[in-house]
Order: sequence, then structure tokens, then C-alpha cells
Amino acid sequence: MRTVYLNGAYVAEGDATVSIFDRGLLFADAVYEVFSVLDGRIIDHAAHMARLERSLAEMKIAHEVAGAGWDDVLATLIARNALVEGTVYLQVSRGAADRDFLFPAPGTPPTVFAFTQARKLADNPMAERGMRIITRPDRRWGRRDIKTVQLLYASMMKMEAKAAGVDDVWLAEGDVITEGTSQNACIITREGHLVTRDNGQALLPGVTRLSVLDIARESGMTVEERSFTIVEAQGAAEAFVTSASLFVMPVVEIDGLAVGDGLPGVETMALRKAYIERARGAH
Ligand code: PDD
Repeated sequence: MRTVYLNGAYVAEGDATVSIFDRGLLFADAVYEVFSVLDGRIIDHAAHMARLERSLAEMKIAHEVAGAGWDDVLATLIARNALVEGTVYLQVSRGAADRDFLFPAPGTPPTVFAFTQARKLADNPMAERGMRIITRPDRRWGRRDIKTVQLLYASMMKMEAKAAGVDDVWLAEGDVITEGTSQNACIITREGHLVTRDNGQALLPGVTRLSVLDIARESGMTVEERSFTIVEAQGAAEAFVTSASLFVMPVVEIDGLAVGDGLPGVETMALRKAYIERARGAH
């Protein structure tokens, strides 16, 4: 049984309960982060923390963590659960108050919890075969730059992918890709340029995306932060997604059409390797 964190205490997962009046439950009034852990250490720690602070500020959720702060919570959970490889999920909601659309009075304590999930990240068999994806209309709300727990549409789209026998969905406004259901979408053009949508309110500013763009630039690749269409992606040399849990994951098929030669791209796999090496080497 895991030890989880809830509002200042470390408890057995079965003992961690929150109020039915929690605004995270009633209004999806909560933000979260997913940190990946490799060799017992968090990857891109500072960037995830900075995004968490930004999400909280955008939502105007007042937040003070008891004790030594977020870093201590994460380190304690990793140690107590002997997590070597996997993820840590951290959520902060506006807290519990009688149901009302208006925010509760200042001083209402936020609900903060975190838990670990052990899973293989570096050694993911999907990297060998690549992901097959389909595209669907992006019908999420307009502030996708805030990492809120409003994940129902993403969840529905993942179920649609499953029913279609593919691995995931890329979301599009018209024919322009915004991002994956829970990853950022990237392509490599036939000229060898890495293209990924520029940050803004339409998509989540991915932490992994940022690191991978750094690595690509360092290796001399041209990076273009701009929108691209479904057709451009299908005609690209390579395609991939980035996220905390998938790192860099090749995409080999979009809406039934093979990308490149239909195998994980060479440049994509080099970026994946470099990302994992950098994560391991950083410690
Ligand atoms: N998802 N876009 C969306 C909509 C996401 O939910 C995520 C992350 C990303 C990638 O961001 P990052 O590289 O910072 O993980 C992009 C996490 C992994 C999740 O919800 O499980």
C-alpha cells in the first residue's frame, strides 16, 4: 500500500479522504502537475514547479504548503514509497466550501495531495513501434495553458482512440493541430526542422517540450515554434509527442496515413535518447 500526502500529513492511501464539498470535485477547480522520476530523482523539477506556481496564480488559488514545502513533499513520497521510476502526481484545489459558483472566502484552505505511481518510463516498448494516432476536434475550454484537472474531454478522446484501435488522439481546431490529449505534438520536416506549436492559451506549455527544444537547438537543429496542419504532419519526415510520462515518443501514423516510412524516426529516437541521458546525467 502506498503512502500518500494529504494536507500536511503522510497517510496510507486508503486513509486519504477529501470532502464531498471540495471544489476540485464540484467545479474542477484545481490544478495539478505530473513529475517523472528516473533513478529515484525528479526530471525537470524546477520547470514543473514554475508551471505549478503559474497555474495557481492564474487561478488565484492561495497556497501555502505546510512544513518545508513542495520539494520536501515530493522527496518524502519518493523515499517512503521507494520509487525508482514512475511519476508523482500533485494536485491543489481551492478547498472545500458549501456549493457556490463564487469562490469561497479568502482563508479557505486549499486541498493539497500527492501520490506516486511506479511505472517504466525509459524502457517503454511503444518507443520501438511508435504511436498510431487519429485527429479529432479540440473541444476543450479556452485556457489550456493552465494545467487544470478538467480532463474529461481528453479522457473521452483517449477512449475514442482505444475504440478505434489506435494509441491516442491529436486535437485540432479546424485543420490546425493544437496538441495531443496529454502531450505536445511535434513534427520534423523534410528539411530537418523541428516544428511545434507556439505557446499560448490554446495549449499547455509543456515542460518536456521545452527541454527537448533546448536539446534540439544544442544539436544544431532549426526549431520553428508555429502552428502546423494535419496534412503537414502527415507529410512530415517524422512526428513525435513530448510529455512527462512519455518523454519523446515517436508517432508513426496519423489518421491512417504513415508518417515518413511508418517507423519511429531516426531524429526522434536520437532526441529521446538525448533527453533520457540528460535527465540521468543531470543528477
Ligand atoms: N500531461 N499537453 C497536455 C494537454 C498535457 O496534459 C500534458 C501533460 C502535456 C505535456 O506536458 P509536460 O511535458 O509538462 O508533461 C501537454 C500529463 C503528463 C498528464 O496529464 O498525465
